[in-house]
This record gives sequence, structure tokens and C-alpha cells, in this order.
Amino acid sequence: MDKLVIRGGEPLLGTVRVSGAKNAALPCMAAALLTDEPVILENIPQVRDIETTRKLLAAMGAEVELGYGRAHHRTTIHAKNLATPEASYELVKTMRASTLVLGPLVARCGRARVSLPGGCAIGQRPIDLHIKGLERLGAKITQEHGYVEAKANRLRGAEILFDKITVTGTEDLLMAATLAEGETVLQNAACEPEVADLAALLNNMGAKIQGAGTPTIRVKGVSKLKGAKHRIIPDRIEAGTFLIAGALTGGDLNIANCDPAHLTAILAKLKQTGVKTKPSKDSVRVMGDNPFSASDLVTEEYPGFPTDMQAQFMALATQAEGTSIITENIFENRFMHAQELVRMGANIRIEGRRAVVTGKTPLSAAAVLASDLRASASLVLAALVADGETIIDRVYHIDRGYEKIEEKLKAVGAQIKRIGNMLP
Ligand code: UD1
Repeated sequence: MDKLVIRGGEPLLGTVRVSGAKNAALPCMAAALLTDEPVILENIPQVRDIETTRKLLAAMGAEVELGYGRAHHRTTIHAKNLATPEASYELVKTMRASTLVLGPLVARCGRARVSLPGGCAIGQRPIDLHIKGLERLGAKITQEHGYVEAKANRLRGAEILFDKITVTGTEDLLMAATLAEGETVLQNAACEPEVADLAALLNNMGAKIQGAGTPTIRVKGVSKLKGAKHRIIPDRIEAGTFLIAGALTGGDLNIANCDPAHLTAILAKLKQTGVKTKPSKDSVRVMGDNPFSASDLVTEEYPGFPTDMQAQFMALATQAEGTSIITENIFENRFMHAQELVRMGANIRIEGRRAVVTGKTPLSAAAVLASDLRASASLVLAALVADGETIIDRVYHIDRGYEKIEEKLKAVGAQIKRIGNMLP
């Protein structure tokens, strides 16, 4: 199993390029199931979740070309014939976002059989809202043997009010609604940029969607969608992670190929913490020459501070003077990184959904375990400023969502290497 070995203490200097957003690429790949024509997606990140999605789509009978080069990271998906509209437990258990195929499959094929995802390291994460929404669109749902099966001759447009804001739930139903008969209105929809990116692709494919990126999305169903070419937005979470890396190490880092408009909450929080940043059109420079001050944080749906940046912010909070209270509102069990940070010398107390972080405490290298994708990122950040050599085990978690993190960090001065050879 791969490990990352990081020797802390080097300031990060230079330019690091952000990859395409994994969480936009995944629904866009699922959207290719809605048409029998090829869909070309550019700026695809080279991460393991994309490879899992390739396998998932290929298992259904779609032709998927996936290529990574200096100039292009691109996939072409041609779902001409879908022999098996199914997502197996084997794939869903490694990536919950596999449930994104449920809506497109039932809309296109009239039938979908998708494994229920089961438990998750960061919380329960049910998919009840996806299922209720599909029922509102007229699908007949059955659940047995750990699978959910949805059937409908043709979905019918409906008003759907989400009880709770869900990102992939919004995306799943948005895709389903594109081929439904009549109008669908999604209320209390997720406003994340990844939802808007998916809607941009779907509209390129001939869908009629208005309001994506706001809480109310209107979809006029069409009978057929066509192929399209689309460029995936930059990954705001990867950008945010590098911003904290630059700040923490006292570096001077240019985060290139990002969209500062998607980073508003992250940049505002960094400013409160005393981190200097300078956004430009498609990059942000971070200068880590100030001491950090404690700042409370509450995770929220977009445009609030993202839960996917909470663990990384906690690493920063360990190096800030004073007490920061971090409240996790989205997932019930997303503090797995805290205990590992404590093993490195952090002072963190967990009280239910709140973590109380008191700094500044020096961090010292230790052998630590990555427990989920973003938790692993926080351990990398802590290791970059820890005294000595940290060994992070179970790096496959980080490979799910960060493209070649060790190469990117090494190029800007980090002392980091991978042991093992299991790059995605
Ligand atoms: C997506 C992101 C993930 C991010 C999360 C929150 C992708 C592939 N993943 O996950 O990186 O951390 O948004 O920003 O885009 N919920 C229900 N019932 C449902 C669906 C969700 O109760 O049917 C709850 C969840 O348990 C959670 C909350 O709603 O407490 C938000 O979850 P959701 O937005 O659905 O997260 P994902 O879409 O799975």
C-alpha cells in the first residue's frame, strides 16, 4: 500500500496548477449516459474516482476513452448502447458518487439498478432524497438485496422540494429531469459551482435548464439529448488546499488555473486568520509571512465555507494563536483527522459536532493514517510544517481526489516522496 513520506519545514515557493474539479467531472461523466452520441469532457483530473467512473460506465456498455497528456486531460464517452443499466456494489462501495448514474439511467433506459452505498467514514450519507425525488418524477422504486431499482416508461416533470440541500441529489434529479415529460422545478437545490457546471454541459447537450447555481432550478424536459464538448471547471477544493499549504509553510505560492469566484468563502476565512492572498483573473497568490490568529469556522452549503475544506482549515488552526471553534454542520462524523493531528502535537478537543483547536502548538512528525479523502489532505498539510519525517499511510484516500499531489508539492519545494507505486 502506498505511503507518503514528508519532511516538514520547507516554504513552498513558485506556481502550482490546479486540476479539473473531480466533483464536477463525476456528474458530467454520468450525464453522458443521457445520450447515444459522444460526449467529450476536457480538464478531467487524473484521480482514482475518475478511473472508477470509467469502469462503472464501461460495465454498462458505454465506450470510454480516457487520456492524460501534457496538453489535455480528456475523456470521450459514447453511451450508444447501454446493455446493463446497473451499478454494482463492487464499484459503489469504493465511490458513493456512483449513485449519480441512477437518474440518467432511468431517464434514458427506463430502468436502473444501483447498489445502495451503505456506511461511510464521515457520516451516514443516505440517498433517500435521490429516491424520493425520482418517485416524484414518476419512477417506481423497489429496494431489495442491497440494491435500489427504479423503473419508468418516461419520467414526468414535477415540483421537488428537497428537505435538505444535497449536492449529488440535486445533480441526479437534474439529469433525470432533462428527459422527463414536462417541466420540473427543483426547490432548495444545491448552489455549488459543480451543479452549475453540470447544467452547462446538459444545456450544451440540448437540455433546457434555468437557474442552476441558485436554489430554484427549472428544467423543461426534452425527448432527446445530443453529444457535446465541455471543459470541466477548476477544482476549488484542491485550490483551497494549496492556499493553506502556501500559508502554513510561510511560502509564496501562486495557485494557477483556478477560479477565485468559487473561493470567496475560503479567501474570506483565510483573511480573518491573517493570511495574505491576492486573487487575479484565474489565479490566487498566497503569502504566508504573517502569524495566524484563531478564527471560528462553520461549514455550510455553498456559498458558505465547504465541509471539504474543514480538515485542511483545522491543520491551519493548529498553527494559529488562540482558540478556534470549528463546527461541522454537513456531516456528523467528519473529525477523523483530529486524532491524527493530536498525535502530531495539536491541541484539539472534540465536543460533538464542534472541534476546539488551541494553538499555536509545534507539530512533530509521526506515523499517521489517512481515513478519508480530505482528512488525508489535512495530514499532508500538517506534515509540511512538522518537525521531522511524517509517514502517511493509506494514501489511496488522497489519490481518489488529488492529482499527483506529491509531484505538485515537490515542484514548489516540498520534501515529499511516495513509497510504493500505485498511482491512479
Ligand atoms: C457532495 C460532494 C462531497 C461534499 C458534499 C457536501 C460529490 C461527488 N461529493 O457529496 O465532496 O463533501 O457534497 O458538500 O460531489 N443527505 C441525506 N439524504 C440524501 C442525500 C444527502 O440526508 O439523500 C445528507 C447527507 O447525509 C449530508 C447532507 O445531506 O448530511 C449533504 O450531503 P450531500 O450534499 O448529498 O453530499 P454528497 O452529494 O454525497
